[in-house]
Parts: sequence; C-alpha cells; structure tokens
Amino acid sequence: MTIFKLMKILGIETSCDETGVAIFDMDTNIIISEQLYSQASKHAEYGGVVPELASRDHLKKLIPLIDLAIEKSGQDLKAIDAIAYTAGPGLRGPLLIGASTAKAISMSLKIPCIGIHHMEAHLLINLLENPAPSFPFLTLLISGGHCLLINAKALGDYEILGQTLDDAVGEAFDKVAKILNLGYPGGPLIESLAKEGNPESFNFPRPMTNKKNFDFSFSGLKTAVYYEFKKIKQIDDSKKADLAASFQAAVADTLLIKTKEAMEATNLEELVIGGGVASNKHIRSKLIEGLEDKKIFFPPINRCTDNGAMIAYASSFYIKNAKENLDLDIKPRWPLSEIANG
Ligand code: KG4
Ligand code: ZN
Repeated sequence: MTIFKLMKILGIETSCDETGVAIFDMDTNIIISEQLYSQASKHAEYGGVVPELASRDHLKKLIPLIDLAIEKSGQDLKAIDAIAYTAGPGLRGPLLIGASTAKAISMSLKIPCIGIHHMEAHLLINLLENPAPSFPFLTLLISGGHCLLINAKALGDYEILGQTLDDAVGEAFDKVAKILNLGYPGGPLIESLAKEGNPESFNFPRPMTNKKNFDFSFSGLKTAVYYEFKKIKQIDDSKKADLAASFQAAVADTLLIKTKEAMEATNLEELVIGGGVASNKHIRSKLIEGLEDKKIFFPPINRCTDNGAMIAYASSFYIKNAKENLDLDIKPRWPLSEIANG
C-alpha cells in the first residue's frame, strides 16, 4: 500500500498584476509563509494592466519572492515537496512566467508540478477557514476578469449558472474609477470615496435584475455613471463621492438580487464568495444582511485579491495526481465548468 505523503507545496500566482508566492503545509493545514508583490502602481498611469509590463515585472520579482518565502518559512528549498502555479485563466505572458519558473524548479528538484485554475483557487481558499463550507454550495466569484454564479456540486464539478455578458464587476469598478479620475485599481478607491457620499443621490440601474436568468451585465451601469459625470457642471470631491456611493450601491443590490434568486432556485443553504471585489465591505454587508437566513463564507480580506496562498492551498486537493512534466500547459481562457478536462 502506498501511503500518501502530506506535502509542503510552493504555490505561485502570476495571472495578472500580482506576484504571489506561498507555502502550504498539508500536515498542519497552515500557510506557513506568504509573499505578495503588487504591480498596481506600475499600471496606474495607463489606467489598467499592460500585459507586457506585467510579464517583465513578474520575471524580475518572482524568484526573489520565492527566495524570501522560503527563507521566512525557516526551511530551505529542498523542504518543498511539490509546486503549483496558476495555469489560467489570465494573461498569456504573465501565466508563462509563472508556469516556466514552476517547471524549472520542479525539474531541478525532481518534484511534482501542477497547474491550477485561478478561479477555482478563489473559490477553494474558503475551505481553509474555520468554520468552512461543505459541498454542495452556491459560489459567487467577483473579480477583475469574472462575475460568476456557480453551483459548486463537488470538488471539480462546477455548474455555471450565470456570468457577465460584458464587463466583469471588478472591471466596472476600475472603469468607473477611471471616469472619476481616481486611479487604478479602482475598487478600493471607489470603496473609500463612497464612504463620504450619499448612495441615493443617483438612481443607477440594477442591470438584468428583471431577467429570469443568473447573468450579469455591468457595462451599461458604467456608461450610466459616465453620462451623469458629464452632466455635472462643476465636479468636486463631494459629487464624485456621491457618484461612487451610488454606483457601489447599484452593484451591491444587483449582486444580492441575483445571488438570492440563485440560492432559491438551487435550494442551497451555503454561499461562498471569492475574488478581489469580495474585499468590498459594503458588498459584504449587503449580502450578509440580505441573506441572513443562509450561511455565508468570505475569505479574509487579504485572500480575496490575487495571492499565492490560494494557489498553494487549492493544489493540495489535486496534488496526488501531479506528475513531473515539461509541458508549459497554460490556458489563458479556461471556463471553470471545463476544469475536469484541464
Ligand atoms: O481577484 P482579483 O485580485 O484579480 C482577478 O482575478 O481579476 O480582482 C481584482 C479586482 C480589480 O478589478 C479591483 O478593482 C477589484 O478586484 N477590487 C475591489 C476591491 N478591491 C479590489 N472592488 C471593489 N472593492 C474593493 N475593495
Ligand atoms: Zn483573481
């Protein structure tokens, strides 16, 4: 009988503009070391992520971050038993930097290497918390690239109930921040400005909430903010705060309405939230208030946005199947419902 070894896994995240590295110890069920470097300030002047700049910066930062994560864990590289990297979805160049670094380390140490689905990692990181959700549960993934409502039936078995038809929810935050000249990334800037504003000053649409499906659309909402912004003769900080608060309220209401309908339709009792936008406190409290009879799980704030811990942890569910292989198998487009074919 082969006894499966509880491993120390090094996780690498490079799908967009965060270089994340972490070590998960399966034996103690703890992330023993974690490093994160955000490139956001480098992309701020362009108002969004520039893929080529992102690739170059990952290349520069990844190895030093791995060294630091290993050093802070009090171990050396030889203590690592396996390596996991984000295989997709994400930006091709940045994904290739993470994948090739992971493969190189795996080859030199002769340890298994595994590619992980970024959105599944956003979902699974909730299972590291106490209390943890248990399958089946509804999942709302709200990030810069996605807005997904999923029936998570079992590990790797994800039925997509609805998704955005245009802008992702985080993308809408970023674009509205650009309209208001706030900077990048827009989510945290809008959230903080919204605290000074009146959420009822502008009556923005709650898109798709009259449709009998679970899809979203945030592009029209962003355009509605643009037109109101253009109408204002003298724009000042208080007007911007009102726009930010009213936009954020429209997003929160929309997410709540759709999620509530999906919970009712599926009869699920637990809701798991993930992705960068899940760090928004207004959206969190709106969902908690509106679904008070359900069990709701959020990751800690620092594990909502991209990080290496979620990759290291997610891989622990799949690592038994990992092999040493040299394929640079990244998938910039990879629907979560097709994970079993990955
Ligand atoms: O999950 P994430 O780090 O990367 C992707 O997988 O896309 O999400 C990044 C997105 C960005 O669009 C950012 O503006 C948004 O999450 N975000 C927020 C907040 N913090 C980050 N949106 C709203 N409120 C926040 N506090
Ligand atoms: Zn993400």
